Amino acid sequence: MIKATDLAYGRLGAPDLDRMEEFLVNFGMVRADRTKKALYMRGTDGDHHHIHVTELGEPTHIGLAWWASSEEDLEIISKAPGASEIHEIDEPGGGKRVNLTDPDGRIIEVIYGMETVDDLDVRDVAINTGNDKYKRTEIQRLSMNPGQPSQVKRSAHAVVKTADLNKFNEWYQSTLGLIMTDSIMDFEDETKDMMTFNHIDAGDNYVDHHVLLAIQSDHAEFNHLSFEASDFDDVQTGHYWLKSKGYKHAWGIGRHMLGSQVFDYWRDPWGRIHEHWTDSDLVNNAHEPQRWAPPEGLNNQWGPDFPESFVDDPHVHAL
Ligand SMILES: [Fe+2]
Repeated sequence: MIKATDLAYGRLGAPDLDRMEEFLVNFGMVRADRTKKALYMRGTDGDHHHIHVTELGEPTHIGLAWWASSEEDLEIISKAPGASEIHEIDEPGGGKRVNLTDPDGRIIEVIYGMETVDDLDVRDVAINTGNDKYKRTEIQRLSMNPGQPSQVKRSAHAVVKTADLNKFNEWYQSTLGLIMTDSIMDFEDETKDMMTFNHIDAGDNYVDHHVLLAIQSDHAEFNHLSFEASDFDDVQTGHYWLKSKGYKHAWGIGRHMLGSQVFDYWRDPWGRIHEHWTDSDLVNNAHEPQRWAPPEGLNNQWGPDFPESFVDDPHVHAL
């Protein structure tokens, strides 16, 4: 129906907005606004008013919001089965929105015209390599331990479990224009996929390897929200900062196989995983989707093995 231009934000619930804000500030976001009912956090990129929403309430995952490229696209998507009318967003940042539900029952917001904000300053890091030894001739001083939080740039991707992977992909591809990047075959039945990676359709332009990763399961569940950090040092800086604050680490630091990101995963006070990454593979529509066998697809290029608790976590609420 339309081609969404990116993941706008994830919308979570939390019973204590002060604790959530403290976590997100330590994770490297900046408060964009806060009301009695909700918290809105931004990144350093100024494209959008906010990239993370937490509503006061049960610690659940409410849904995902996506950017539409025009108001005409909102008109088009408002004709989708079960879609709301176009309405003004009665929240900080404003804009217009159409609400839908995906096949698992997640609330999907499609948004156009939200307020933009200015970019925030970001540490500039130059790195010397064996091949380019003289890129930096100044002394390197990023911070002193435990330093400072990461500098989250932007909302990048979401990972969820779904009760029906085929139905899930069919809906996101036909409704929001997502395109399959790669998939990982089922351990027991190679004719089926157990994990699929979708990217944004931006034509010839390059986009992140995935904006939405879904895992076949017997029920729908939230897994993580992911945010781009400014660079490799920023992922490391953020890691030691969150560690110094006593937050619970989930997995990392490593470099994924599919997508190639350098990743680091942390849990918020209610166990919901938030990821920092840098240096993703990019794809455009010339990319041919590949099906991977599970050991290779799930492996890292380097870093700690995939912990079982990452996908089967008693803290995480099903939808
Ligand atoms: Fe991720």
